Amino acid sequence: MHAHRHVVPPRADRGRLTLGEPELREWGQELGRTIVPPLLVSLSGDLGAGKTTLAQAICAGYGVAEEVTSPTYAFVHRYFADKSDVFHVDLYRLDGEAQLTNIGWDDLLSEKALLIVEWPERAGERLPADHLHIALEHVPGDQERRVLLAG
Ligand SMILES: Nc1ncnc2c1ncn2[C@@H]1O[C@H](COP(=O)(O)OP(=O)(O)OP(=O)(O)O)[C@@H](O)[C@H]1O
Ligand SMILES: [Mg+2]
Repeated sequence: MHAHRHVVPPRADRGRLTLGEPELREWGQELGRTIVPPLLVSLSGDLGAGKTTLAQAICAGYGVAEEVTSPTYAFVHRYFADKSDVFHVDLYRLDGEAQLTNIGWDDLLSEKALLIVEWPERAGERLPADHLHIALEHVPGDQERRVLLAG
C-alpha cells in the first residue's frame, strides 16, 4: 500500500495562513510556547499589519508576564521570562543602518535571548540570515491577516 502524495495545497497558499485577530493571537501564543532560545524572530508587514499584536502574543506564550507595548520610540524593550530574556525591537524610526550601533544592535544579537524585531528590513545587511521570518499582510476587509512563515 502506497500513500499517494498528489494532493498538495495550491501553490499560492502553501505556507500561508489567513487569521482573524483572536486566531493570530492564539497562533502567536502557541509559537511562543514552543520557541527555544536563542532565536531571532523578524516580523515584517505594513503599518498596522499586526506585528506588535503578534509580538505580544509570542511574548505571552513565551512566559512574559508583563504587558508588552510597542517599542517604536525606545527602539528596544526588554522583558523577562523563565526561558530567557526577551528583547522586542522596532526599527521603524531607524535613521540609517549606522544608527544600529547606537541602539546596541550587535550586543542584542549576541544575547542568548529571544529577539523579536519589527521592521527588520531597516537593518539591511546587519540582519543575520539565520532567523525565523514572519510576514503579515493586510487582507481585503481588514479583519484578517495573511501570515507567511519562512526560515
Ligand atoms: N487579524 C488581525 N491580526 C492582527 N491585528 C489585527 C487583525 N485584525 C485587525 N487587527 C488590528 O490591526 C491593528 C494591528 O496593529 P499593530 O500595532 O499590531 O500593527 P503593527 O504591524 O505593529 O504596526 P506598526 O508598523 O505601526 O508598528 C490592531 O489595531 C489590531 O486590532
Ligand atoms: Mg508595531
